[in-house]
Amino acid sequence: MKIVIQIIKAFFVCLMSLISFIYPYKLSSKIKECKNYLYSFWIKRFLGCVGHGSRVSYPCILQGGGNKNIRIGHNTSIQGHVVLGCWTQYGDNQFFNPSIIIGSHCNIGEYNQITACNGITIGDGLLTGRFVYIGDNSHGGLTREEAPIPPVKRKLFSKGEIRIGNNVWIGDKVTILAGVTIGDNVIIGANSVVTHDLPNNCVAAGVPARVLKKL
Ligand SMILES: CC(C)(COP(=O)(O)OP(=O)(O)OC[C@H]1O[C@@H](n2cnc3c(N)ncnc32)[C@H](O)[C@@H]1OP(=O)(O)O)[C@@H](O)C(=O)NCCC(=O)NCCS
Repeated sequence: MKIVIQIIKAFFVCLMSLISFIYPYKLSSKIKECKNYLYSFWIKRFLGCVGHGSRVSYPCILQGGGNKNIRIGHNTSIQGHVVLGCWTQYGDNQFFNPSIIIGSHCNIGEYNQITACNGITIGDGLLTGRFVYIGDNSHGGLTREEAPIPPVKRKLFSKGEIRIGNNVWIGDKVTILAGVTIGDNVIIGANSVVTHDLPNNCVAAGVPARVLKKL
């Protein structure tokens, strides 16, 4: 029995090696590209507006029911595993009118999460690394009354809209919290948590993010 399993394993290894010549890596990449291209057309139908030349890679997780309030400009690329949450309803009795507006020529990295129950506006030319979180809401208003309620059952609460200017570069694993305005041409260092506004033309980093350098 053992010898049969070994023969099957050896056959499988030879088969895979043969297939790697017939079906080369470049072709598999092209097929993946085509799949993402087709996926963009599907996902675009769920969103409010997507400009020409914009791509949304597989999978894009849409949450919150407000897909039609999500608008994306031209030539913007949304990488895979991005979560876009536009919360028009939360639970049975909370209703919102949020919007997520992403400008043109932006590149949103893999595993980013953008979630709004209020409003998130992103200018043109944004570049984000991986695992960036941009969210204008929290579970509850951090009060003593809400503390004994399980977080998921607390009311969704927003301190304010998030605005991000043009040509901003956001490093890996940055968190941008509610009520924050980030100016034009800002660079935010990896792992930063942005809790306050950042002016135009600066490099900021840290927890909480502070201006390191004026440009
Ligand atoms: C923000 C960034 C561009 C700054 O790079 P830099 O020019 O090498 O920074 P500097 O050397 O001028 O740093 C100035 C100070 O800020 C600190 N600093 C730099 N980046 C920091 C960060 N992410 N968090 C905390 N402090 C940081 C440095 O330690 C230095 O402090 P010091 O003067 O006490 O030594 C870089 O740190 C960064 O985070 N890049 C993003 C990388 C990334 O995520 N890429 C993938 C996304 S596409």
